[in-house]
Amino acid sequence: MEAWEKIEQTQREIESYVIDDSDTLEAFRIKYLGSKNTIKPLFQEVRNVPAEERKTFGQKVNALKQGAEKRFESAKQEVQSEAKSIQQDIPDLTLPAYPNPTGAQHPIQLVMNRIINVFQRIGFTVAEEREIEDDWHNFTAMNTPENHPARDMQDTFYVKGDLNRVLRTHTSSVQARVMENSQPPIRIIAPGRVYRNETISARSHCQFHQIEGLYIDEGVSFADMKQTLLYYAREMYGEDVKIRLRPSYFPFTEPSAEMDVYWGLENEIDYRITKGTGWLEVLGCGMVDPAVLTNCGIDSEKYTGFAFGMGIERQAMFSHRIPDIRLLFENDVRFLNQFVDA
Ligand code: DAH
Repeated sequence: MEAWEKIEQTQREIESYVIDDSDTLEAFRIKYLGSKNTIKPLFQEVRNVPAEERKTFGQKVNALKQGAEKRFESAKQEVQSEAKSIQQDIPDLTLPAYPNPTGAQHPIQLVMNRIINVFQRIGFTVAEEREIEDDWHNFTAMNTPENHPARDMQDTFYVKGDLNRVLRTHTSSVQARVMENSQPPIRIIAPGRVYRNETISARSHCQFHQIEGLYIDEGVSFADMKQTLLYYAREMYGEDVKIRLRPSYFPFTEPSAEMDVYWGLENEIDYRITKGTGWLEVLGCGMVDPAVLTNCGIDSEKYTGFAFGMGIERQAMFSHRIPDIRLLFENDVRFLNQFVDA
């Protein structure tokens, strides 16, 4: 092939050479700029070209070489910036994974766990039972037979078409279940959800949570109950908490009492939540009525026991200064987020 023609052809090759990655870039460099590049022999051709054309020929070959260098430089930049943008698309795989947004415990659960913990430390175990209960365990076994006026104390949700099935109105039903299935010593607490057909307001809801406690053994006395409840109040509300027991009435205990915790009466809010007394009612309690023991198959001549039951919502509201019980059931994350680190 004629030398002039070779220049033209190499020129076209250089222009149309496909360079799209670092491999083709390197192949280009070796072919046109490497130590055995294809332009080199053209420089030697200069000798064979007639003298009057030599100058122009030499210029052409030089231009060819410069063109190859230029093409190489610009292709190199393109390949590099391409590589960079690809790198940017790939996330840094060495980074630690994004933490999953984890949930947090609900304020009710937090308070419940605290209470469970307090009693577990003195040997109570947790008993859990059904929320749809039969009439016997919710009422009759607990010394609240049909037509007993105490049934009016609790507005009950019945399962449609079945007057024997209720949504349990209190966790006291768990007492009956546990006593039926075991013999003393019995030392349980029963946390769980309960239901009452009440108008929903800032202070009451148709569903809420209670924790029941039951302790039965030989020689269990009212003094044991008092000491246990005092221990509870101290653990929950602080060493110098003041408590008082007021006589009360529950069908399943005799005698019965309600325990108040002293809250204080310093400002208007204290006035409002303690109804002007400074005392907060925290739980109901009493010595298990012998009739209840008998109903559930426990020898009431041999054993005595005490029981108590408390609402969780109220205690959560006091502890966290929550003004409206409905906040506890609406699952508004703006509310719940405030308890994430609680
Ligand atoms: N069950 C009662 C209620 O829901 C609370 C209660 C009172 C439970 C006295 C008890 C008790 O175990 O001894 O209002």
